[in-house]
Amino acid sequence: MDTPTDGDQSTTEESPDSRNFSRRPVLRAALAAGVAVPAALMGVPALARTIPSTGGQLEPTPQCDDGDDPTPAQTEGPYFKPNSPRRSSLVDAGTVGTRLTVTGFVFGLRCQPIANVLLDFWQADNNGVYDNTGFKFRGHQFTDASGKFTLATIVPGLYPGRTRHIHVKVQAPGGRVLTTQLYFPGEPRNNTDTIYDPRLLMTMRNVGTGREGQYDFVLNIQQTTTTTRPTSTTTTTEPTGPTTTTTVPPGGTWAAGTPYTAGTKVTYGGVSYVCQQAHTAQAGWEPPNVPALWRVG
Ligand SMILES: [Fe+2]
Repeated sequence: MDTPTDGDQSTTEESPDSRNFSRRPVLRAALAAGVAVPAALMGVPALARTIPSTGGQLEPTPQCDDGDDPTPAQTEGPYFKPNSPRRSSLVDAGTVGTRLTVTGFVFGLRCQPIANVLLDFWQADNNGVYDNTGFKFRGHQFTDASGKFTLATIVPGLYPGRTRHIHVKVQAPGGRVLTTQLYFPGEPRNNTDTIYDPRLLMTMRNVGTGREGQYDFVLNIQQTTTTTRPTSTTTTTEPTGPTTTTTVPPGGTWAAGTPYTAGTKVTYGGVSYVCQQAHTAQAGWEPPNVPALWRVG
């Protein structure tokens, strides 16, 4: 295969610094466990949704902008392929490599989880090779109602010029695509890879013969809440969902609610598109918004 060089586009992201990227795993753990997190651990008030419903005054929902900026974008590299299969597991019984499960949530700017976010993962195999003819170690999935995703895969192999990483595209319904990469702590090449960004480090642990990684994405999506500012002591209510706007279809044969099969052609906004994979259309998944589902053609 060609020598992989997806490090050939240098990133403009910040170099490793002292940014605090340890809070998201705490948020994630709180969401997963459904328990309150001491504010002292977070540096901000706990999420309203993590407060037990039994008595007590609800803590206000924090803002995510106090050092937790949106997840930084990274270069796509040369090996992305559209039309990946929809699946959360990229392995089977015969797959070679150290098993890895990656879990996490997708949040908006107000730390509220977002459901139905498209995550399209791709990575090298155990030998550091990308499957550019098929779809091995490629797959997309959607966050569940709680904003959570789970990826079953292997620890990707190393290839020349890069540290260990997993590529991903993340897109909320109706939102822009965030293309980025996830990294592994303790990798020697993290110190020499010019694309590597510590804000994209997963939290890792060993489980049996495999590994588990955790990472929460924060998308640059405004969210409204019914809560007051964090400094207030006013009793709050549960936050509302993300305020993603539904685009009014500008005309065409595409229609929400329609089940489409791969190869189906539609028009939208005066442009023709070909369906990349079977799905049932919904508001926010208009063809221009979801390149994993539609390509111009
Ligand atoms: Fe890569």
